[in-house]
Amino acid sequence: MAGDAAWWQGATLYQVYVRSWLDMNGDGYGDIRGITARLDYLSWLGIDGIWLSPTMPSADQDWGYDVCDYYGVHPDLGTLEELDKLIAEAGAHGIKILLDLAPNHTSSAHPWFTEAASGRDSPRRRWYVWADPGRDGGPPNNWLAATGEPAWQRDDASGQYYLHRFLPSQPDLNWRDPAVHEAFGDILRFWFDRGVTGFRVDAAHALYKDAGLRDDPPAPEGSGLDAEFGLLQSRSANQPETTGLFREWRAIADSYDPPRLLLGETWVGDLETMAGYHGGGDALQLTMNFPFFFAGFTARELSGIVAQTLAALPPGECPVWGASNHDISRFPSRWCGGDERKARLALLILAMLPGALIVYYGDEIAMPDVPVPPGLRRDQMTAGDQGRDHARTPMQWDGTSSGGFTAAGVRPWLPCGDTSRNVAAQHGQPGSVLRLCRDLLALRSAEHRGRIASYRQLPAPEEVWAFQAGQLRVTANMSDRPARVGPGGPVVASSSPGALQGATLAPWSGVITA
Ligand code: NOJ
Repeated sequence: MAGDAAWWQGATLYQVYVRSWLDMNGDGYGDIRGITARLDYLSWLGIDGIWLSPTMPSADQDWGYDVCDYYGVHPDLGTLEELDKLIAEAGAHGIKILLDLAPNHTSSAHPWFTEAASGRDSPRRRWYVWADPGRDGGPPNNWLAATGEPAWQRDDASGQYYLHRFLPSQPDLNWRDPAVHEAFGDILRFWFDRGVTGFRVDAAHALYKDAGLRDDPPAPEGSGLDAEFGLLQSRSANQPETTGLFREWRAIADSYDPPRLLLGETWVGDLETMAGYHGGGDALQLTMNFPFFFAGFTARELSGIVAQTLAALPPGECPVWGASNHDISRFPSRWCGGDERKARLALLILAMLPGALIVYYGDEIAMPDVPVPPGLRRDQMTAGDQGRDHARTPMQWDGTSSGGFTAAGVRPWLPCGDTSRNVAAQHGQPGSVLRLCRDLLALRSAEHRGRIASYRQLPAPEEVWAFQAGQLRVTANMSDRPARVGPGGPVVASSSPGALQGATLAPWSGVITA
């Protein structure tokens, strides 16, 4: 595929956490109309598509990831008509819309589950994963939920347990039942028919579980992200059948013109496993790279993951890079500790990596995590430390106390941070992070759009990451010391003015040369 058919190659996707973007109706929650209202901004920024965090009706135990109706729009966020309008107006701006689809589990308030829980003989019983108690009368096996608690909830009426990989109010669907496949095939078509460009597929690696529900083994040392709470998730997730399901969905996606896009939330540590979800180029087109998200901000770690990723992906498949999202801390805090030089450098590197890029709302102004006091936290999944709320606070549009997110006097659903770092101020300031990000995305678009640029790492001192991406050469000094770098061509962009003086690259800065 070439050109528009594979538009995601070299594209920039922008993740909007809808509740935190812009509140148009003064209820303290961002909404779909708020996204439509800021399409001019996103078009100015130079993105190709928006991934909307969950928009479907939900019981809000996990803010949209506990779906009650796969065919609707959450009333706090808007209406189906407003979403249709957003899709149409975004299209007129040349921007595509991806929705978030949560197929691993529903809400326990979804009518499917209510029916399934009504008794062992319910025709929908098989849609979820039920099992008899283990030998000791406790949970059927040792699987753990994302909270660290057993992943099984006892149903007193039937004496059986149901599986929930996340909260007890998020029962896992049983992908071994063909009726579940049929139901989701219909859901995909419903949204594709409405003009949705594709889906980010939640918990994509976890959809199938071991058929015999065998225990997860203890995690060997160095299992990284594949281990949680000391167990290797080799039976509760990452089953080979999952790729077969994605092949089914890909056939549906490819039956549309233009073909629709499937972007998997593949939360796996092993890059070969991640690459497996592409099948032979006939399953997911894009898989999120969590080892990259979680790597240290060093030349050695990041360049190592890029090399391993490119080696692992099947030929012609497109890598995806990103550094912040709603589940993990924002990169200006996590990677950069609030140091703007580092945030500028990170954006320069990200913009030039070959493949697709996901920018999280606020990345473009180097918005940091915002500590949320315990009494104001909204995330129930991760109770300890900061949880995930610190990466979900309202977009900082201007320097007012509500950051321009909602009307004066309205209490936002999560508190605003220090709004001195905001879009309005940076928009008007040449050389700001926002203006740099926009310039970098324009360069990216000119050089990478519609293809996966060739990538070659170049020899450089240990703390310098130098690579050739297509026609351009990137040199990034990821250290506190000035670095001597080889002669390059004319400077096309740099992370800050004067970063390169002769052959000396300033600490934590980078240049792009022709
Ligand atoms: C991954 C989502 O990104 C996260 O926010 C959610 O809590 C879980 N999946 C469960 O849906």
